[in-house]
Amino acid sequence: MELDRLYHFALLAQFAFAAITFFSLLFITAPYGRFGRLGWGPSVKALYGWIIMETPAVAMIFLWFITSNYNLVSIVMIVIWQSHYLRRSYHYPFTMKGRNKPFPIMLVVFAIIFNCMNGFVNGYHVFHMRSFDVEWLRSWQFIGGVFLFYTGYTINVQSDNILSKLKRGGDGSYVIPFGGMFRYVSSPHYLGEIIEWIGWALLTWSWAGLAFAVYTIANLAPRALSHHKWYRDNFPDYPSQRKALVPFVW
Ligand SMILES: NC(=O)c1ccc[n+]([C@@H]2O[C@H](COP(=O)([O-])OP(=O)(O)OC[C@H]3O[C@@H](n4cnc5c(N)ncnc54)[C@H](OP(=O)(O)O)[C@@H]3O)[C@@H](O)[C@H]2O)c1
Repeated sequence: MELDRLYHFALLAQFAFAAITFFSLLFITAPYGRFGRLGWGPSVKALYGWIIMETPAVAMIFLWFITSNYNLVSIVMIVIWQSHYLRRSYHYPFTMKGRNKPFPIMLVVFAIIFNCMNGFVNGYHVFHMRSFDVEWLRSWQFIGGVFLFYTGYTINVQSDNILSKLKRGGDGSYVIPFGGMFRYVSSPHYLGEIIEWIGWALLTWSWAGLAFAVYTIANLAPRALSHHKWYRDNFPDYPSQRKALVPFVW
């Protein structure tokens, strides 16, 4: 019963977090990567920052899973979740171009809090509150959600890989990315990530999944806009038909 109350509280907090994040990021670009700057306190190497801040997302879901009466549906769901987070936590940080750059500890702490909260609400809902029977695997929500999730996953991984292979100048200067969905938008890795979590919301048919999808949009849409503006300001030959985040639209 206590956990139920905590779940509802955390769920509301997540929607509130999304609103605060969105409006803050419209005015302050998160200070890491190309937007890294002084004045945000001590930092760690980005490589360690990413591993530390993403690990709670792996661990929380795993804990909820092993303490549940798991069945085939919950096994499929944990495989879907971890297919994203194991890569993000333990593979991506070693391949990213900016892995030796400083990453503010403040952002690491913020991300740990978010990932604990998000892992709590999603894991609690999927593995404890709701019991999915095997018929769920044949529902339109599950099939459509899995399709969306892995479409987004493919776009996200492909775009991350393109960025990790870009040849920079000797001074570490940035270049214009080409190929894959970069043909249409400046931040296809964010587009892929957003599609993934909309897929998760659909396949779990849950407020917890919806809260995560909304938060991902709130976090990544303003940053996509900042990247887009930065490319346009810094590269006079930047492809003019390329949009910020949504192909042909925005
Ligand atoms: N679910 C969420 O809320 C959430 C939040 C944040 C990130 N993510 C995911 O995490 C991944 C990384 O996100 P991010 O915000 O770190 O992305 P990013 O700022 O675009 O940076 C990604 C990596 O690519 C390098 N890079 C980017 N543009 C480049 C260019 N034009 N030339 C050369 N190198 C370039 C960056 O180097 P520098 O570090 O040197 O700039 C960095 O190593 C994405 O897949 C994203 O979807 C998810």
